[in-house]
Amino acid sequence: MRAVDLIVKKRDGHALSKEEIDFLIQGYMTGQVPDYQMAAWAMAVYFQGMTPEETTHLTLAMAYSGQVLDLRHVLPKAVDKHSTGGVGDKTSLVVVPLVAAAGLPVAKMSGRGLGFTGGTLDKLESIPGFRTDLSIEEFVEQVRRVGCVISGQTADLAPADGKLYALRDVTGTVPSIPLIASSIMSKKIAAGAHNIVLDVKVGLGAFMPTLEKARELAQLMVDIARHAGRRAVALLADMNQPLGQAAGNALEVKEAIATLRGSGPEDFVEHCLEVAAYMLYLGDAVPSPEAGKALARDTLDSGRAWEKFRAMVQAQGGDIRAVDEPDRLPAAPFVHTVTAPRGGYLAQVHARRVGEVVMRLGAGRAKKGDPVDPAVGVVTHVKVGDRVEPGMPLFTLHTRREADLTWSEKDLLDALQWSDDPVEPLPHFYGVIT
Ligand code: URA
Repeated sequence: MRAVDLIVKKRDGHALSKEEIDFLIQGYMTGQVPDYQMAAWAMAVYFQGMTPEETTHLTLAMAYSGQVLDLRHVLPKAVDKHSTGGVGDKTSLVVVPLVAAAGLPVAKMSGRGLGFTGGTLDKLESIPGFRTDLSIEEFVEQVRRVGCVISGQTADLAPADGKLYALRDVTGTVPSIPLIASSIMSKKIAAGAHNIVLDVKVGLGAFMPTLEKARELAQLMVDIARHAGRRAVALLADMNQPLGQAAGNALEVKEAIATLRGSGPEDFVEHCLEVAAYMLYLGDAVPSPEAGKALARDTLDSGRAWEKFRAMVQAQGGDIRAVDEPDRLPAAPFVHTVTAPRGGYLAQVHARRVGEVVMRLGAGRAKKGDPVDPAVGVVTHVKVGDRVEPGMPLFTLHTRREADLTWSEKDLLDALQWSDDPVEPLPHFYGVIT
């Protein structure tokens, strides 16, 4: 077999066999297939697509390029979740302890922020002392003892995805539905997830700008899970505007704490309850998603989810005083409220633009390995459909430098679109794929 023949085959629109895909991925890992051939193949996939069978073969080839955990013997009922990424998406911080407090173990491997989207590990590390580099032994021990854990990926999970993702990032081949689906699912499968709720974001601040594309991605991931002997449900969730109010690491931890203590923003609470409901349903803790939602609400209201979060923070070395008194979390020196220059109805609060401001303030990273500032970010006080009077607060900026206030205020105001006529609020969800 020669890599060039497989590139030509894909370029001309034909499907590759399992053996051919295994050859490419194994060759890429050993160095026999160089970056330039892999890049040419990824571009051919970008234009020609892949069949669901090919996508499943690619997923499994990447998953089995390293260690594949199987936690079923220690955690037969464990459930997992994965978000395709967005702005203000601190859902894991709430649903992981919530589902654990409702009785199902959650062992979650999370990622870091890249581009305008945040990452759970960066957020948790704004809690002083919080460790996200647990060994597999520590990871398993903690979920057995505490019921939940959120840590970084250990080195050897789906290494082929890590290599291919870095290549796609610099060759314009990230936004391909089969490549995204296989990338996400290879990591979930390697991390040992058997019941997975996929939180697929749709809209201006998501990889998938349209509902049609998001549905296609969601369906493909659910199908891959089934072919790989796993169970998955995908929720199609709005990401046109930021989720909740806070975007930025410590600011998001504060909002997650407020939510766990019963005073979270309405849209974010609703989002968490829905994701938790499907996790409880998929893990057979309840007979229906509706019963899952009732159990999730009860667990949140009772304070048990908050207690579980505290236990997780303590188990991972985090300073418990900083979560009990969130004013102790890192705080930015400059805080400024941006007020409405006019009145009217909000027709758009552009999630990606808000996310880009947050990133440029220092909360995110332009490339892998860049440091992040835990304290900076943006709190958005308005939602699409809100009636706003002149002078009302729109955003609160938290910046490291005074000079950042000027450009960031302008960029945030540019993220808004106004209407003189009433505007419908955006839905939280667009559907579920089971
Ligand atoms: N997230 C991933 O893990 N992979 C992609 O390709 C896109 C988003």
